[in-house]
Order: sequence, then structure tokens, then C-alpha cells
Amino acid sequence: MRPFDARRVLIGVAGGIAAYKTVELARRLRQKGAEVQIILTENGARFVGPTTFEAVTARPVRQSMWEKNALDHIALGAWADAIVVAPATANLLAKLANGLANDMLSSTLLAAPRRSILAPAMNTRMYEHPATQRNLERLREDGHVIVGPAYGELAEGEEGWGRMVEPEMLLAHVGRALEWKTRWRDKKVVVTAGPTWEPVDTVRFLGNRSSGRMGQAIAAAAWRRGADVVLINGPGHAATPPELDNVHLVESTEQMAEAVNESAADADAIFMVAAVADYRPARPEDRKIRRSEGLTSIEVEPTADVMAAAAKRARAECVKVAFAVESGEDAVESAKRKLREKGAHLVALNDPSQPGAAFDVDTNRVSIIDAQGGVEELPLLLKTEVADELLDRAEGFLPGD
Ligand SMILES: Cc1cc2nc3c(=O)[nH]c(=O)nc-3n(C[C@H](O)[C@H](O)[C@H](O)COP(=O)(O)O)c2cc1C
Repeated sequence: MRPFDARRVLIGVAGGIAAYKTVELARRLRQKGAEVQIILTENGARFVGPTTFEAVTARPVRQSMWEKNALDHIALGAWADAIVVAPATANLLAKLANGLANDMLSSTLLAAPRRSILAPAMNTRMYEHPATQRNLERLREDGHVIVGPAYGELAEGEEGWGRMVEPEMLLAHVGRALEWKTRWRDKKVVVTAGPTWEPVDTVRFLGNRSSGRMGQAIAAAAWRRGADVVLINGPGHAATPPELDNVHLVESTEQMAEAVNESAADADAIFMVAAVADYRPARPEDRKIRRSEGLTSIEVEPTADVMAAAAKRARAECVKVAFAVESGEDAVESAKRKLREKGAHLVALNDPSQPGAAFDVDTNRVSIIDAQGGVEELPLLLKTEVADELLDRAEGFLPGD
């Protein structure tokens, strides 16, 4: 599975309790098709033994420089397409920041031609100590990517900064390291996702079944390709990807339009994936309407056209991709009309009446329509795969460097 298939990932495991989470990271990477090589420090092996890692990676774990091939501490760093150290102990960080190389892991990291993803995990006081902070600063300057630590419960029953981030987050960062050099790198990509809710009264709303997964898959794939992603997410139930650090949570179409307008002006690409409500109650009540009132109809009015407003605000060279949800005989014609009216480069058409397509499922079946009237029907794919297919096609519209 892109971008992990047949890629080589080196994982360093140092001596911290969070080493148990690294087993899951290695397992997930293997599941996605990567080759995973573990280097375990002597102290790391006190927390999780090599047998567990060997079972999930199907490769011998390296622990010492004085076993097997004599020059592996030079060879392994060059072998790897991506390197991650999880957990990165205070001790490991201090060693790497100062160029120490007195065991297999630190020697390999020093000899590696690429920088690492480092996932610090330690007691809060160890983390907040000026020495650790100094080391982290220096490692950042050296080009390493520091991920975390997170805030939360620590092994000693304390609470604070020091927890290793979850495997999901590291998986995303490894993906980004594997796809770093793409044309999306440093491009500003704005993505809308999920439904919008329009209040009827203080407890009811008009909404739709969008979960947010399709838009989130596009946002995550663009981030993985190196883009600067702004995700504007409506109240769908899918959790936003943890690696995205610029997420605006909105509820109504008006709020979504406002957030899009704020970020559209300097965007390089806009993906309008949200299922925006077309109508909203004309006079929402600021109290709960009682059953005894005998309400029989709700008057509605059109909502703001988020996509048209964004298209107007965006620069001429901004790539615009819209989603259309249409069913019936004239679905393609209607999507083509949408493309013309909104000034989009591409429209992805999905039909919720087809099995496995559109709302609230992990898969989607889309047809991609371009400005020349071309229609490309993609097969039933995971939403993450649809995201990559769309980004591949949208990339062709990015201005050349
Ligand atoms: C029970 C226990 C838990 C530990 N957890 C951590 C930890 O989470 N983070 C850390 O930096 N050090 C932790 N340490 C201390 C490291 O194991 C120690 O600094 C060791 O020298 C690290 O070696 P390494 O970096 O070569 O793996 C722990 C020690 C013990 C005994």
C-alpha cells in the first residue's frame, strides 16, 4: 500500500517503557508492505525482547555491533528509506545531539545518510530538563523530525508531557518521510470535509450522512506528500488524522465558508470534499420546539455557495477540485455543469446509490471529470486510494517550478 510497499524502514528502539507501542508500529508497517529492520539497544531489550520484534518483522533484530556483519552499522542507515527511533530516550537524544556512537543504534544513526524521525518518551522532568530541551533543539537544527511527546498519563502514575505519540502518528510521519520529494511539498492545500449542520432549533439540525472520511483521506495524503494542509472539517463522526496540525472544526455552512475564505487566497490547491448543506432553516428557533406545537413544515432558504466563493477568492493558478454527489441518468452531465460553473479543474463524481460508494463507508467509487469533458471511471477503491488517484491527477495542474 502506497507509500510503504517494498520500502525499507529502520526502527531504533531504546530503553523506555513505550517500547511496547513500537511493536504495533512495526506490525502496521509490515501490514502495509514495508520491510522493517529493528535495532534494539541493550536497555531497550529489557523492555521488549528481540523475539517479539522478530516475530512481527520476520527479520533478525540487530542489537550489537559485534555480531553478524561487521559493517552493518554503516550499511543499515544506507539501506533504509526511512529511519524512526521510538522510543527515543533522553539518553539516546543526548547521544545523537552530541555525535556519540558507542553502540549499534547510535553508530547507525550517525552513519546514516538521512535524518531520522525521533519519538521522545520519558518522564516529564527528564523531558523538561534544560539539557534534554537543548538536545532536542540541536537535533531539530540538524534536520531530524521530532514527533511528540504527547501530554498524558505517564508510567510513574504522574501526568504531563512525556508520553510517546501513538503508532498511528508515527506511521503517518514514516509515510511522509517516504514521500517527501513530491511536487506537493510546501504547497498550501485547503481541504473541506464532512457534512454541515444547519440548526432548526437549539437541539435539532438539518444535516447529511457524510462522515468526513473522504476529505480527511485527501488531507492526509496531501500532508504525506509534503503539503502544508489546512483541513476544514464539519461535524462528521470520523476522527481527524492526528498528524494534521491545522484543523478548523466548523459546524454550519456559514462557518465553513468563513474558514475557507480565510485560507483560500494563498492556496495552491483547494479540494472541496465537504457535503455542504444546500438549504438551511430560514428562521432557526433559539429554543427547543415542542411536539405539542404541531410543527408541520420548516421553511428553508439557500445556504452560501462555499465552492463558488472560494473559487472567486483563490488565485488563478490555484488548482480546484470539487466533489459532486449525484445519482440518476444525468449525474455525469450535472457534474460537468458543476465543473464549469465553479471553475474547477476536476470534479470527482460519486453516486451514493452504488454499493460501497459515497457516504459513511471506507470505500468509494468515483468518476473523475476534467475540463475537456473527459470522464474516467475508477473502480471501487478504499477512500485512501481514491485520495492518491485524485492527487496524482491534480498534480498535473500545479504550476511548474
Ligand atoms: C523502569 C524504567 C523505565 C524507564 N523509562 C524510560 C523512558 O521512558 N524514557 C527514557 O528516556 N528513559 C527511561 N528509562 C531510563 C533509560 O532506560 C536509561 O536512560 C538507559 O540508559 C537508556 O538506554 P538507551 O538509550 O541506550 O536505550 C527507564 C528506566 C527504567 C529502569
